[in-house]
Amino acid sequence: MTRTTPLTTDDLTAGPLVHTSAGSGEWWRDAVIYQVYPRSFADGNGDGIGDLPGVTSKLDHLKQLGVDAVWLSPFYRSPQKDAGYDVADYRDIDPLFGTLADFDEMLAGAHERGLKIIVDLVPNHSSDQHVWFQEALAAAPGSAARDRYMFRDGRGPEGDEPPNNWQSIFGGPAWTRLAPREDDTPLGPQWYLHLFDTSQPDLNWENREVHEEFEAVLRFWLDRGVDGFRVDVAHGMVKAAGLPDWEGQVSMVEGTVEEGHDQVSDPGAPEDGSTGAGHNGPMFDQDGVHEIYRAWHRVLEEYPGDRCLVAEAWVEPLSRLARYVRPDEMHQAFNFSFLTAPWDAARLRTVVDVSFNTMDAVGAPTTWVLSNHDVVRHVSRLGLATIGTGPLNGIAATDPQPDPVLGLRRARAATLLMLALPGSAYLYQGEELGLPDHTALPDEVRQDPSFFRTAGAEAGRDGCRVPLPWVGGAPGNGFGSTDATWLPQPDVYADLAADRQYGVEGSTYEMYRTALELRRAEKVGASGLSWVESLADSPDVVAFRVADVVVVGNLGTVPLALPAGAEVLVASGDLDSSADTVAVPTDTTVWLRA
Ligand code: GLC
Ligand code: CA
Repeated sequence: MTRTTPLTTDDLTAGPLVHTSAGSGEWWRDAVIYQVYPRSFADGNGDGIGDLPGVTSKLDHLKQLGVDAVWLSPFYRSPQKDAGYDVADYRDIDPLFGTLADFDEMLAGAHERGLKIIVDLVPNHSSDQHVWFQEALAAAPGSAARDRYMFRDGRGPEGDEPPNNWQSIFGGPAWTRLAPREDDTPLGPQWYLHLFDTSQPDLNWENREVHEEFEAVLRFWLDRGVDGFRVDVAHGMVKAAGLPDWEGQVSMVEGTVEEGHDQVSDPGAPEDGSTGAGHNGPMFDQDGVHEIYRAWHRVLEEYPGDRCLVAEAWVEPLSRLARYVRPDEMHQAFNFSFLTAPWDAARLRTVVDVSFNTMDAVGAPTTWVLSNHDVVRHVSRLGLATIGTGPLNGIAATDPQPDPVLGLRRARAATLLMLALPGSAYLYQGEELGLPDHTALPDEVRQDPSFFRTAGAEAGRDGCRVPLPWVGGAPGNGFGSTDATWLPQPDVYADLAADRQYGVEGSTYEMYRTALELRRAEKVGASGLSWVESLADSPDVVAFRVADVVVVGNLGTVPLALPAGAEVLVASGDLDSSADTVAVPTDTTVWLRA
């Protein structure tokens, strides 16, 4: 029922704990971690592409914001066919981004400021320019060099059909055939597997040398002093024996759009919190991946301090995801069921409940996230008229356009809910400025392979990767020293630039900063959580108690009046104040003392 009478303090009584305090422990258990996408964060040399000196120059911004750690997307040597997720040398920096000395300087600068650094590890595939793949191409079928990747003979009498029917996640077939050579067998040239672009051949994780190489790569970066690794496609490295055909669909996570969803809790919603964000099929979530993480866990244990592994695993339901963070495996796993949950009170409560149940059962923190470099930013996602789990893989100029005011309002409300949840949380660069995607990029500037491999049917992820605005109205909005930006910025970025928000009351930046300060001071991340009992079934309101704070998010259409005397600690938008009441309007979250 929609509530129209003011709340009383009694109405805010806590129900039973659905998550108990994690106590104090390793830093990553309750850390807020900021994702830097290096090519779009800050440009140190004016060539239009962000770089490591650029990151170093903005460490004070991150410190001021109040995050605990930074995760950097790949900066390794790479032909940049998939923006660096195609690694040619795991032990060196791409000249686009700087040098190893620049990396060391960035790391030292972060550590001086008390910020931890997590780097990205891409073990499912390498670049086709990696020395191993070049060796494999030169070597004969059946050789040790070929065995480091997934080479197979084709099907059919002449081997000219792919070894199985798998599709690439970026669209098109997942197999590419080599050029003919003199020493080919009657079956002709072999094929190699690439779950992503043709330039990203999958490594063979049945091969010991591959294991040894990646353990050595971990040590290389641990020796340099990194605090952890984000593990790319952590659910993909091991494939089902025999590589069986599969009729299902693997594609970039598109998300579903629920037409006409009217914010009444959906009776058909899965009780396990799933949203359809999980990849399944014989190339994903195979039991064999867990042995790899147990071995990596042991490598990290050899190093002093608390180092961590965070899984990028698009796995559902959450009980399957929890297997990645069992005590002897990884430490965190992005909660994509939360990221893709529709903007609906009941759906959000379900995913939070199930997340705590499943992660608490293995002693791991829940790792909340709303945006990253692979999905439409939550400002744009939540600004669409329909409320579903997507779209995630880009919005094109010809698609329905998000409402920027609605999107920002809901995104700020969603963020304040997220930052009040115990566990760790990831922020994506620019979300602290309330940035939307560029939702009208011209096709000529697009770079994401998923755009090309689907012949433009998918807009792809460029819209969430636009260079950040630091100084509103300056050339390139202060991205670098020139007006060069590798993707054009939308006009609204000038007003949303960091310098226009620092110290400005009510700005998105100040909301994030205040929330992070409170989160730290109140020890929210390590707290238990209980739903506010009288609102636990509300179709409109998400309300819970954490630490000494009451959190109320109003997703309904009717303003919710707060108890007299409640002290508002932070709010995601303006509240409705009349002579005797303060009310939380639609799509607004508040943190209270009451
Ligand atoms: C992960 C990355 C994504 C990349 C893909 C292939 O999903 O986050 O950006 O394209 O893996 O490496
Ligand atoms: Ca640069």
